[in-house]
Amino acid sequence: MTDATADPAVEPFDVVDVIRTKRDGGRLEGGQIDWVIDAYTRGVVAEEQMAALAMAIFLRGMERPEIARWTSAMIDTGERMDFSALSKPTTDKHSTGGVGDKITLPLAPLVASFGVAVPQLSGRGLGHTGGTLDKLEAIPGWRAALTNDEMMAQLESVGAVICAAGSGLAPADKKLYALRDVTGTVEAIPLIASSIMSKKIAEGTAALTLDVKTGAGAFMKDEADARELARTMVELGTDAGTRTVALLTDMSAPLGRTAGNSLEVRESLEVLAGGGPADVVELTCALAREMLEAAGVHDADVAAALADGRAMDTWRAMISAQGGDVDAPLPVAQHVEEVRAAQDGVVTGLDAMGVGVAAWRLGAGRSRPGEAVQAAAGVEIAAHVGDTVRAGDVLARLHTDTPGRIARALEAIDGSWSLAAPGTAAPERRIVLDRIV
Ligand code: URA
Repeated sequence: MTDATADPAVEPFDVVDVIRTKRDGGRLEGGQIDWVIDAYTRGVVAEEQMAALAMAIFLRGMERPEIARWTSAMIDTGERMDFSALSKPTTDKHSTGGVGDKITLPLAPLVASFGVAVPQLSGRGLGHTGGTLDKLEAIPGWRAALTNDEMMAQLESVGAVICAAGSGLAPADKKLYALRDVTGTVEAIPLIASSIMSKKIAEGTAALTLDVKTGAGAFMKDEADARELARTMVELGTDAGTRTVALLTDMSAPLGRTAGNSLEVRESLEVLAGGGPADVVELTCALAREMLEAAGVHDADVAAALADGRAMDTWRAMISAQGGDVDAPLPVAQHVEEVRAAQDGVVTGLDAMGVGVAAWRLGAGRSRPGEAVQAAAGVEIAAHVGDTVRAGDVLARLHTDTPGRIARALEAIDGSWSLAAPGTAAPERRIVLDRIV
């Protein structure tokens, strides 16, 4: 909101000059950046002025020193967390988000089972990608909101915390992200990198592993853009003293065989019990090894910690500490609709976007912040990339509590499977495409 009592004449810069500089392809000075972020947070720079500046940045880009200054100016608008009182090292991960991306659920307890602290501040879903908090809220009793003291105590006792990020971290980002969302300026690499990294640096983790996704179901569909985003974030983290590594990972097809809240919790439990889909296990283990290396735990046998129940024990402690009933049955949907194959073939592709939009339309996601989601809604994939199907076989099951949503979900998922002639060699799916340091 704009502060009507503010007097622009006493401000050290004129926002229109700042906008013009970037509009004409110039470089913003450090003082201009510090001021514009602070003045926007105070309500002195109006929403329409920040929208114009965001669009100028989207079109003209920013140089590395500008992005670094923009990031630190956003951090300075809020609090910084301090984990230095903990007896163990901290290591965190951030994913740019994708369809069926439930990795945080098995990953946080797996990494914590090696004696390190994982402070995983997470968000809710918007649009076709799910939110970690929405998934965990499918567990009866589990609560996302923790005070800083509760979080510190749980990090010390259990090691893993997955909770809602408080409004105190980089409040400028909260305001700016909401503005970008409605002005077509979300997809600017300098703005995405500074948005993510301002929150992670303010959170104060010593080490950070980024999972930057690329492909149809990702935010950054183009691999070159995803690579540039990863490089920019790694540099921002490293310059701020956070040990930062990025994995570039595939999001052309959904991760695992479920997209939707309780469905994804169930699949995560399979992984924690030593089973689960190969792609989810592969990515969980790859990220766990990076997080542990960065925390000084070398050559950890993470697969053994999944197989022998250590990660599951930490999961149970983590969920119970936040009020969740680990033994309660997970919600199941009232209606299930099957999608069947029209012909025989080998699945050579499964469009993550089609599956993500279907899950969202079934009720797993929201269109506006604050909307309720259905715990049990979503898509269960019966035929994934590499599987062979016969005409009439089930390709997917659509779960929802509101049958009126099924028709639009079917529209979204229709055509998501690419089928090749029976006998065609199944394509090899690479999950981790590159490592960027
Ligand atoms: N996630 C964020 O936190 N910020 C962005 O700009 C994009 C994704």
